[in-house]
Amino acid sequence: MNILLTGGTGYIGSHVAAALISTGHEVVCFDNLANSDAVVIDRLEAITGTAIPLVVGDIRDGDALRHALTEHGVEAVIHFAGLKAVGESVAQPIKYYDNNVRGTLSLVEAMADCGVKTLVFSSSATVYGEPRYLPLDESHPTSATNPYGRTKLMIEEMLTDIAAADPDWRIATLRYFNPVGAHDSGLIGENPNGIPNNLMPFISRVAAGRLAELSVFGNDYDTPDGTGVRDYIHIVDLADGHVAALDTIVKIEPALSTWNLGTGQGYSVLDMVEAFERVNSVRVPYRVAPRRDGDVASCYASPERAARELGWTAQRDLEAMCASSWSFERTLAMRNSD
Ligand code: NAD
Ligand code: UD1
Repeated sequence: MNILLTGGTGYIGSHVAAALISTGHEVVCFDNLANSDAVVIDRLEAITGTAIPLVVGDIRDGDALRHALTEHGVEAVIHFAGLKAVGESVAQPIKYYDNNVRGTLSLVEAMADCGVKTLVFSSSATVYGEPRYLPLDESHPTSATNPYGRTKLMIEEMLTDIAAADPDWRIATLRYFNPVGAHDSGLIGENPNGIPNNLMPFISRVAAGRLAELSVFGNDYDTPDGTGVRDYIHIVDLADGHVAALDTIVKIEPALSTWNLGTGQGYSVLDMVEAFERVNSVRVPYRVAPRRDGDVASCYASPERAARELGWTAQRDLEAMCASSWSFERTLAMRNSD
C-alpha cells in the first residue's frame, strides 16, 4: 500500500516508516517539523535504500493534506502527528486541543474528501487513567487526568462516531504503553529537545554525562521496590505492531478496532537503571526525589487481544531496549563531535 505518515519524521513515525518499507509498503511523510528534523529522511533513506518523499506541512492545513493525498495516490494514513508533553498540555491546553483535536478533524475531513478511509491512530495508555485493575485490557474504563490525555480520548471518541456513521472506514486505534529504544542501525531514535520528560532518554543522557543525575520520582509506591512500574516496549516491536494492525484492518469487518501495544511485563524505575548499567557497563547516578504529579504506581498492558487478532507480540527484551538506547546516544555523541 501507499501510506501517508503524519508526524512521519518523529520518533515513532520514523521507525514505522522503516518497518513499512521493509515489508514492501511505500510511504510519504507529512510533518511540520515542530518536533523533528528533515535529516531523519536522509537516515531513513540510508536504512531502507528507498527514496522517501517528505511533505513539510501542518495537519491543520486541509488543502495541503488533500494535495498530498491525491498527488501521492495515498491508500491509507497512519496518524502520529501531535504534541505529547503532559506538563506543557496543563500549562497550554488551547495549543493541545488546537494541534491534536483540530488537527485530527482536519485530517479526517481531508481523507473523506479524497476517499481515503483507512486510518491507524496513535493513542496512548494514558486513556485508561488511574488503573482500576491490572493488567489493563482494552475494556478497562477510560478517563483523562490532563489535557494531553483528554485530546487522545476526544480523538478516540470522534473516530468511534465516524466509524459508526460510515462502515466503509477501517480504523485502528493503537494504545501505546512506554516505547523506548532505537533502530538497530543507530541512525534513528528518540532525541527530545531540551531536558527529557521520559525516563529512558533521561537515563541515556545521565550515562553519557550530559545530565548529572537521574531524579527517581518517588520510592514509596505500592510496588516491589517502591518505584513506579511501567510496560516498556522496544520501538522496533511497536513499529511492527503498526504493520500488523494495518494489514489486519483492511481484511476484517469492524470499521473500528482498538489494540494495546505493550509487552504485558512491568519494570520499575530501579529495574531500568540496573539493567541499563549492567547491559552497557555504564554508571547512572540517581537520587530519590518527590513523586511527580499525575504519576500512577503501576501501569502495564494485557497484550492478549493484539496477540490473538493481529498475530503480533513484542519480541525484544529489556536488555535489547537498553542496548539500542545507548547505541543511539553514542551515535549522537559522535555526530555532535564531528
Ligand atoms: P514526536 O514528537 O517524536 O513525533 C510527532 C511528530 O509530529 C513530530 O515530528 C512533529 O514535528 C509532528 N507534528 C506535531 N504537530 C504537527 C502538526 N500540527 N502537523 C504536522 N506535524 C506535526 O512524538 P512520538 O513519540 O513519535 O509520538 C507520536 C505519536 O504517538 C503522538 O501522537 C503521541 O502522542 C503518541 N504517543 C507517544 C508515546 C511515546 O511515549 N512516545 C506514547 C503514547 C502515544
Ligand atoms: C508519560 C506520560 C504519559 C505519556 C508517556 C509518553 C505523565 C504523567 N505520563 O508516561 O501520558 O503517554 O509519558 O510520552 O507524564 N521517572 C523518573 N524520573 C524521570 C522520568 C520518569 O523517576 O526523570 C519515572 C516516572 O515517575 C514513571 C517512570 O519513570 O514511574 C516512567 O516515566 P515516563 O517515561 O515519563 O512515562 P510515563 O509516566 O509512564
